[in-house]
Order: sequence, then structure tokens, then C-alpha cells
Amino acid sequence: MTDSSSEKPFLRVLDGEALSPPPIWLMRQAGRYLPEYREIRAKFPTFLDFCYAPKAASEATLQPIRRFGFDAAILFSDILVVPDALGQKVSFEVNEGPRLEPILSEEEFGRLHEAIDLKRLAPVFETIERVRAALPPMTALIGFCGAPWTVASYMIAGRGTPDQAPARLFAYREPELFQRLIDRLVEASVDYLARQIESGVEAVQIFDSWAGVLPAGEYERWCLGPIKQIIAGVRRRHKDARVIGFPKGIGSHLDDFAAQTGVDALGLDSAVDPLWAAQNIRRAKALQGNLDPLALLAGGAALEAGAARILKAFRGRPHIFNLGHGVAQPTPIAHVETLMRLVRGHGAS
Ligand code: CP3
Repeated sequence: MTDSSSEKPFLRVLDGEALSPPPIWLMRQAGRYLPEYREIRAKFPTFLDFCYAPKAASEATLQPIRRFGFDAAILFSDILVVPDALGQKVSFEVNEGPRLEPILSEEEFGRLHEAIDLKRLAPVFETIERVRAALPPMTALIGFCGAPWTVASYMIAGRGTPDQAPARLFAYREPELFQRLIDRLVEASVDYLARQIESGVEAVQIFDSWAGVLPAGEYERWCLGPIKQIIAGVRRRHKDARVIGFPKGIGSHLDDFAAQTGVDALGLDSAVDPLWAAQNIRRAKALQGNLDPLALLAGGAALEAGAARILKAFRGRPHIFNLGHGVAQPTPIAHVETLMRLVRGHGAS
């Protein structure tokens, strides 16, 4: 490739190159562990107002880049803007998490819009344009959406639950209606991601945070199949679209997931042993992950040992350093700085 974006370390690895040191960014790198984030957050009565304020959301996207110099920024938004733009009522309760008006019947499903309202998401696309204009030249911009299964699990339960049992039960009891909801989310996600790419993101990540609660048959139907459809749909519109899949908790399905979906990089959660992954996941172009967020929170020996194991395991393979899930809220900033030194110092050795 000849475009200047291909010089960005993060994009080079997504295109299949092994770099030492590996590029690094962290899931939930913008958030409440940063005092400058809490300062902006306090100005908005609701979290969604914040997500839909381009100036504030672009600032939140850039904050961790300025502070730590990560190789990629991730758009500051949330996966639940998709149900919001499909017409479902969505809110975020302080210290409690998301609340949605649950969809449990044909009638409630019928109230959703037929297609995602991209006009409602115009502030998100403006945020992307602002961030692209402000990013340092070697820093890439990642867009994202939630995978249909994970988003549907909130749409059905109306909130986060320990194991998303309400949606799992609903999928068993009402498979046809659930299929229609998943199909709606597949189409919405293709439209949304394609527009993010048109606005300036250079890669997209699909978060399937709840994939790991599904037994094999359900996993194939509600996680693997829909993600495959989204990626094919996005690439019909943007044939070189770079996609990272993060199917959290799918363990033994990982290599097959990479092969079937055609993701450019496969995100690994912290339960996956990096040494096992390096040996056994052969069909993913690049791997991303997978330090335990609690090792980052704890710091010290736990952080050093965790980072060292990952760096050693993936040496010589296309790898993007990341956590196995989002930054935990009480994480000390000094520990993130230590992690940056551990990772960036690695190539020199
Ligand atoms: O990674 C980033 O820095 C980009 C921004 C981002 C947020 N949410 C911001 C956010 C991303 C990529 C997400 C994804 C997301 N949101 C997921 C998938 C990844 C994962 O963590 O499993 C899910 C399941 C959600 C839904 C969601 N949003 C929950 C369950 C919560 C409440 C829990 C919590 O951590 O507070 C949110 C709110 C949310 N999304 C916050 C942030 C920074 C906190 C809101 C606040 O500051 O008041």
C-alpha cells in the first residue's frame, strides 16, 4: 500500500506485519480512571448527551493519546447508541450501568425503526472527523460497534446481568423473533460501521463481550454467523475495510472464528494463555491482547510478569498489545505508564 496510513504501526500489524515493539492501545483507554475524563464527564447530565457532543467526545478520545502516546485512538462512544438509533429508550444510571426499555414481545419489537437512524448518530460521525483532524500522524483511529448478540442481550434484559440469562432464555423460547432482532442489528451495524469508515476511522472493532456464555450451537447461530455477515456486508461497501473481532470467552472456537469471519486481527481475552494462542491460533493474520486488566490495576510483579509472558509469546508474530478487557476504573495512571515502558522497551532488547 502506498497511502501514508500504512506507515502507522497499528495499521501495519493489521496488514500482517510483525513489529518489535508491538503497537499498543487499551480497551476503555478513555474513562473514569483519568481525572481529565471525569472533568468533562461532570459537565453532562447524562452519558448519552456526552457521547453525542462532538467536541467533548473528541476530546475524550484524544486524552489518553496525549497522556500515554498509544498507537491507536478508539472513538469515544458506546455500543448502546445502536439501540438508541433504532428507537429503543436507552439511559445510563450512575454507578449502575445501562438501562433500556426491554424488548420481549412482537409488539415491542415492532416499535423499533426498520433501519438505523444515521441522522441521530450524526454527532458520532462529526466526532470521528474532529479526531482525525487532530491526531498525531502515526496514531490510527479505531471505530467500533457491539456484536449483535451482545447488543441484543442488553436490548432484551434491559440492563447488564451476570450471565445475560434473560436473552439466552428468550433465544431458546422465541428463536424466530430473536432472529429478526439479530437480523435488524446486522443491517444496522453494517450501515453504522460503513458510515464510520466514510467519516475517517481506519479500522473497526466488533465487541462481542458476551459471546462466552453461549453453548456451541447457539454460539454459531447468534455470534459467529451474524459477525460473518457484518464483515461481509462492510467489505461489500469498503473492500479493504480492516476489522478486529473481539469474541470474548469463546476459547476453543478462536482459530475457527478467525478463519470463518476473515477478521484482520483477533482480540484475545485474558483467560487465553498467550503461549497456547501463539501455537494454536494459526489462521488469524494478527492477534490482539491480552493482559489481565486486574494485573494492570495491581501493578508490580503481576504487571511485569503478565506483560513479559505476552511479549515473549507473540514475538515474531503480528501482535497488537492490549488488555483482555477494558481498563478497570480504579487503575492507577502510574501503572499504565509502567506498562508503556515495558512494551516500548521490548523492541530494544
Ligand atoms: O474503549 C474506549 O475507550 C471507547 C469507549 C467505549 C465505552 N464503552 C465507553 C463507556 C467502548 C468501546 C465501550 C464498549 C462497551 N459498552 C461494551 C463492550 C466492551 C465491554 O466493556 O465489554 C459494553 C458491553 C458496553 C455497555 C456499557 N457502557 C456498560 C455495561 C456500561 C456501564 C459499566 C461501566 O463501566 O460504567 C457503559 C458505560 C460506559 N461506556 C462508560 C464509558 C467510559 C462509563 C460511563 C461514565 O463515565 O459514566
